[in-house]
Amino acid sequence: MKRAPRPNGYRDAWCGELTAARAGTQARVAGWVNRRRDHGGLIFIDLRDRSGLLQLVFHPETAPVAHAKAHSLRSEDVISAAGTVARRDPVNVNPNIPTGEIELAVAELEILSDAETPPFPLEEGAHVDEALRLKHRALDLRRPEMQHRLAVRHRIVATMREVLNERDFLEIETPYMTRSTPEGARDYLVPARIQPGSFYALPQSPQLFKQLLMIAGLERYYQIARCFRDEDTRADRQPEFSQLDVEMAFVTEDDVIECMEAVMGAVFEREGFDVPPPPWRRMTFAEAVSRYGIDRPDTRFGLELHDLGEALAATEFKVFSSALHDGGVVRGLNAGAHDLPRSALDELTELAKQHGAKGLVWAFVQPGEETWRSPVAKFLKREEIEAVNKRVEAEPGDLLLVVADEITTAGQALSALRLELARRFDLVDHDRHDILWIVEFPAFFWNAEEQRWDAAHHPFTTPTGDFEHPETLSSRAYDLVVDGAEIGGGSIRIHDRALQERVFELLGIGAAEAQARFGFLLDALRYGAPPHGGIAMGLDRIAAAIAGGESIREVIAFPKAASGADPLTGAPAPVDPGQLRELGLRLA
Ligand code: AMO
Ligand code: AMP
Repeated sequence: MKRAPRPNGYRDAWCGELTAARAGTQARVAGWVNRRRDHGGLIFIDLRDRSGLLQLVFHPETAPVAHAKAHSLRSEDVISAAGTVARRDPVNVNPNIPTGEIELAVAELEILSDAETPPFPLEEGAHVDEALRLKHRALDLRRPEMQHRLAVRHRIVATMREVLNERDFLEIETPYMTRSTPEGARDYLVPARIQPGSFYALPQSPQLFKQLLMIAGLERYYQIARCFRDEDTRADRQPEFSQLDVEMAFVTEDDVIECMEAVMGAVFEREGFDVPPPPWRRMTFAEAVSRYGIDRPDTRFGLELHDLGEALAATEFKVFSSALHDGGVVRGLNAGAHDLPRSALDELTELAKQHGAKGLVWAFVQPGEETWRSPVAKFLKREEIEAVNKRVEAEPGDLLLVVADEITTAGQALSALRLELARRFDLVDHDRHDILWIVEFPAFFWNAEEQRWDAAHHPFTTPTGDFEHPETLSSRAYDLVVDGAEIGGGSIRIHDRALQERVFELLGIGAAEAQARFGFLLDALRYGAPPHGGIAMGLDRIAAAIAGGESIREVIAFPKAASGADPLTGAPAPVDPGQLRELGLRLA
């Protein structure tokens, strides 16, 4: 900790900061009993505060009153203790903790609070059921690894603010009670008592407000913003999450990217997160999808995808020929020389199916010849097998995995297989990280289910190209990807009202609807909007990447459980009928 506590009746020093330099002096500390040990008359307490651990020793002869009280101490009791900082005998020195050379010989002990036995052990690394941890979060957060993660998160935010403040950004808050902002998820609604039957929506992001701030001439805005999206919770997704939200006027892609490289470069450097120094590599969406199957590739290992359409153009094997005939693809990867058993191949097939594939072709390249050991080898001609082997640069013994499907599904399935193979074969060095920008996204995707165009980023992103062929339009959007996780995304916005209306029209949002939902933006665009653009960084994902943990729940003080509910407070919960009546609501 940077400074000693202001001395008062509870403490004048931090536990974790007393060292041999203080030997012989008096100190008073306060905190939680981490552990008690009784040793032939002597009582030892490891006392814990946020700074670390300190050993207290109670001598029956020199401090009989304190010693007698110390007998009753149990883990997690809260105490304040004063005494003399004393060097330990050399045999008792603990080299594993900073305070291991000394102990506090306690003269005076005050018990401030009793603790019942905690429902789970609080030691570092203890494996505890997550539901129990979330239910008793105040206890869970006492664990050293959780204290560390929250401190890392704090420092990340402090660095972000520092770099942006240095660059003349203003931190500006935007409302949480607002109208729907389309980021593609479902809204959380807040019923309005002042207007029964009407609702506020919680923002999915501050997108439109930050654009208005640019139109307002604020030039450079940022905010640590909470966003709310009613979608299924996952390891890297929470219904409410935080963004570093940024917007700048009179900029192009390069300006936003340079600014974020300065911010994130400083964050990574200070936290010792080993990524290459900026500027970071840029890869087009098309290249990412072609080489890795998805737009957020983990580029720390190879196992790249190959297109086998040409090699198999004339095949009579139904699985391949019908996919190609229907406009789909046959794509595969060379997993290398690994002799997996049948059970493992079945697991990989199952994984491919979970990601939408209809099946998975596996093949081992036979030593000495160009043939395959594979359930489908008999359906393929020798030339076809040779052509595929050539395409994926196969050597004898290599395992090949092939999926035939519509292009997105094939990419997703093979991308999932890539990650799984990297895990099984231990291909990733977890101390080194890779980072890249994905650029030149398609602007719109055809939503076959709803029979309409959807914006790939959001409807306020500038498209470039020919509107007669929406599928060819590209968008001025960019994502930042670290180790296969999308940690941020943004775009250059539309600042021209006519173009914005044209995009709404393409998305099937009619003029009247556009005016009703986004009139405030369209109106503002009438009165002199500067070219502008920005980005939002997923703070929870960044903190999780840096501080570790299986999910972003580990870097959020009070997250929702995987179910989306909050085991701590019991939210969501029914409300009393009176409240509903006041809001003009009746439950169906
Ligand atoms: P986008 O929707 O891509 O863009 O979000 C930006 C970043 O926020 C993080 N993120 C999430 N983190 C945790 N839980 C979630 N449910 C979640 N959803 C998104 C991701 C993502 O990269 N307004 C635009 C930004 C812009 O155009 O400036 C937006 O919100 O790391
Ligand atoms: P089937 O003709 O369905 O018995 O499939 C024959 C083999 O091809 C099985 O090993 C399937 O897992 C595999 N397979 C089926 N459909 C696909 C597909 N779309 N892509 C790759 N392999 C497939």
